[in-house]
Amino acid sequence: MAELVENSRFYLVFLFVLMLGNLSTRVEARAFFVFGDSLVDNGNNNYLATTARADAPPYGIDYPTHRPTGRFSNGLNIPDLISEQMGWEATMPYLNPELTGQKLLVGANFASAGVGVLNDTGFQFVNIIRIYEQLNFFQQYQQRVSALIGEEETKKLVKESLVLMTLGGNDFVNNYYLVPYSARSRQFTLQKYVPYVVSEYKKVLMRLHDLGPRRVIVTGTGPLGCVPAELALHSTNGECAEELQKAAALFNPQLVQMLNELNQQLGSNVFIAANTNQMHMDFISNPQAFGFTTSKIACCGQGPYNGLGLCTPFSNLCPNRDLYVFWDPFHPSERANKLIVQQILAGSTAYMHPMNLSTIMALDSRA
Ligand SMILES: *[C@@H]1O[C@H](CO)[C@@H](O)[C@H](O)[C@H]1NC(C)=O
Ligand SMILES: *[C@@H]1O[C@H](CO)[C@@H](O)[C@H](O)[C@H]1NC(C)=O
Repeated sequence: MAELVENSRFYLVFLFVLMLGNLSTRVEARAFFVFGDSLVDNGNNNYLATTARADAPPYGIDYPTHRPTGRFSNGLNIPDLISEQMGWEATMPYLNPELTGQKLLVGANFASAGVGVLNDTGFQFVNIIRIYEQLNFFQQYQQRVSALIGEEETKKLVKESLVLMTLGGNDFVNNYYLVPYSARSRQFTLQKYVPYVVSEYKKVLMRLHDLGPRRVIVTGTGPLGCVPAELALHSTNGECAEELQKAAALFNPQLVQMLNELNQQLGSNVFIAANTNQMHMDFISNPQAFGFTTSKIACCGQGPYNGLGLCTPFSNLCPNRDLYVFWDPFHPSERANKLIVQQILAGSTAYMHPMNLSTIMALDSRA
């Protein structure tokens, strides 16, 4: 009898240890790293001397604090919503001085509004963190985390992380098409410029891969010619601006092709293409089907389609942001971002190639 009690006590302790083990692996969420431009910047540019910033009202009007944060959104942006859906703590901007110690372990956001694949993209914004500099910061991040948890654990954290990379739109909007007869448009026809940008993008992604991550979601550009800013400048009847649409139509398939090549080269599906162009086109072609009243007029802005200039405290501001696809002349509203993240999570192969984020999570949890 005594022996039986002893045994069951042992058994209970054993079970308890098992449960603890389970708990601690569940609490230890996957780290999340973000690189790219204003679609994913969550405040890095607030720490820089640049004009590319979203730190004044009404930016952030629907954010939990109702204050501007540096996100180019009325509320949450795509990385925030991915973290939320995954049950992860939101990542902080890498330049935020409060990002230290244990907080580093959930990941970091290195994105900076205005940047592109090319180093000369966004030069008019002066001080922005260009993509190679973002990757250098990522290397510095790894050194800082190594000092906390050791080199081996840091390598593991990075290898098992998820990365989101959003880049490319500015290489057209804030470079090739920034001014008539831009330096790049004198150097390249559009047909030659697109493969050049894609080949430079490939180098960026290979450098990222060298730094350790093994799952990277790469978004294409949206329909660049359909944003309110372009409608204001180039549209008479509300049709999307032709040249920029042509650019997106050339860039996105070549990007997917390049990602396929990289995966083949690596012998593994490291790079996942998110067809953000299609995700946007769905609600641009039929906004009502998604509960929007317009996909042409920005909620915040001025001039035709509220597409001229920037969104500032003096701009027109719509009362209900959820009814607008576009928050400002260039960036989607929080609700549009939610729909995009829904597709990233669970979309078919027409949206996520070769697989969606739910599938990635299921595969990697089995590994
Ligand atoms: C862009 O800058 C990085 C580092 O600053 C450099 O390694 C790279 O070669 C540059 N790209 C081009 C196309 O000049
Ligand atoms: C995407 O995710 C859902 C689960 O939410 C799954 O049922 C579906 O099959 C996935 N699609 C693809 C193409 O992997």
